[in-house]
Amino acid sequence: MSELENEIEKRRTFAIISHPDAGKTTLTEKLLLFGGAIHVAGAVKSNKIKKTATSDWMEIEKQRGISVATSVMGFDYDGYKINILDTPGHQDFAEDTFRTLTAVDSVIIVVDSAKGVEMQTRKLMEVCRMRHTPVMIFVNKMDRDGKDPFDLLDELEEELKISVCPLSWPIDSGQKFRGVYNIFQEKLDLYTPSKQTITESVEFKDISSPELEGYIGDNLAAKLREDIDLIEGVYPPLNIEDYLKGQIAPVFFGSALNNFGVKELLDCFVQIAPSPRPVEAVERIVKPDEEAFTGFIFKIHANMDPNHRSCIAFVKICSGKFERNVNYKHVRQNRMLKFSSPTAFMAQKKETVDEAFAGDIVGLPDTGNFKIGDTLTSGENLHFKGLPSFSPEMFKYIENADPMKAKQLQKGVDQLMDEGVAQLFTNQYTGRKIIGTVGQLQFEVIQYRLLHEYGAQCRWEPISLFKACWIESDNKDQLAEFKKRKAQYMAFDKDGRDVFLADSNYVLMMAQQDFSDIKFHFTSEF
Ligand code: G4P
Repeated sequence: MSELENEIEKRRTFAIISHPDAGKTTLTEKLLLFGGAIHVAGAVKSNKIKKTATSDWMEIEKQRGISVATSVMGFDYDGYKINILDTPGHQDFAEDTFRTLTAVDSVIIVVDSAKGVEMQTRKLMEVCRMRHTPVMIFVNKMDRDGKDPFDLLDELEEELKISVCPLSWPIDSGQKFRGVYNIFQEKLDLYTPSKQTITESVEFKDISSPELEGYIGDNLAAKLREDIDLIEGVYPPLNIEDYLKGQIAPVFFGSALNNFGVKELLDCFVQIAPSPRPVEAVERIVKPDEEAFTGFIFKIHANMDPNHRSCIAFVKICSGKFERNVNYKHVRQNRMLKFSSPTAFMAQKKETVDEAFAGDIVGLPDTGNFKIGDTLTSGENLHFKGLPSFSPEMFKYIENADPMKAKQLQKGVDQLMDEGVAQLFTNQYTGRKIIGTVGQLQFEVIQYRLLHEYGAQCRWEPISLFKACWIESDNKDQLAEFKKRKAQYMAFDKDGRDVFLADSNYVLMMAQQDFSDIKFHFTSEF
């Protein structure tokens, strides 16, 4: 194996996703502890913006500061190089999370054993499904009374629309939680409630052995054997190929807070989770072990300090090796750029790196050259695909509130859109600009940042819209007719593509019915 292949093979780049409060931060922290990346619990701050703090700007700025530091957390474990990509906890920033998911090779979903599958998880899973991302599930908080584990598995299958394969199985739960039978490693992992330590395991290949009673007592032993019998009857054994295709999700049970079941999850993860996978560009499929460097920008993080208006552009390396001070092609701008201080992220430290490999994320200091989705290469003209925009949920007209600062407003809006803070649509009929977001909080962030970073003032005006649909059709006449009929509701997106702004579900349904040759897409990639 060449050095490059070896480096790539040992990389595991993934994101942990969950509904807020399921335990993502706690799990992340425990994983970092195993990697020796941090030494004390409590070192990873939750990056959630608590609901009550929606207009507490100091809080948001603080959170943004934290989230740069924890954007990517790299560490070494058991010969593997692990990169965890953080995703924003607040649902109003779901779009950020969608984009981060385009830069990972797999995902761990955390589910609260009492709450089961929650809304946010369901939505994020849709993105994973679209991209066939391999998914592993950690059912957390087993130390609390939760749902019946069989019911939970049914719920996972139904709600996340994926087959599941339990690789560990809980022995009782809540106050009486005794641990899990580790199906994957054929071990009995025992939990001692008072001891908040690493799992105590004993090898246990044959659960019919009477020794089981000695560990967990007669009743639980009988129940465990019955459960495992049932599991073997109902769930097929783990097929790693199916996992890698995103068709089946291995499930582990544990308690992140008590550091129980976490190492077992990690051990299985490094063993079966994929190393960097081939990435689709418009021109061709790019394999990670190609010598030439390629990568794309999936996230831009602006500094909110108006005196230092620099950004960090996050690049996912898709192939080859990235090196400091080497010229790379910025394909959209068709020019060569080199970077003297690229950063890598180890634990919570940012440090300058000389080289990084496919699977890694590097942060490039930027002064406005990059947009989300830009491709960098060693010279080839490539355009990576798959950074979709989703139809926003909320829309408002943006108006200039300070006529002297029209230019600043324009510049600010353009840059914030390039950063992917929200989506801009321009009405084709009136020329009015409409901002679409996933949540109310983003409007507040935009207004605040326009003022503080660009000295521009904006005002929001209501517009009642249901969805933005990207439209296309082979039937040119029908498309022209539709655009004429709906002229007042047609807009351009940031790339000048046609978008139909439907003001109600009914209008959209009628349009789909009356113009059957037109395809209405709810994401910008189709
Ligand atoms: P999030 O990032 O997914 O939003 O969740 P986070 O890790 O912040 O966890 C949410 C809450 O759940 C935290 O409590 C955390 O301590 C708790 N928690 C996480 N894992 C477990 C577990 O295995 N068992 C139990 N019983 N609780 C768990 P909090 O009170 O909101 O915060 P904190 O004050 O403890 O930090």
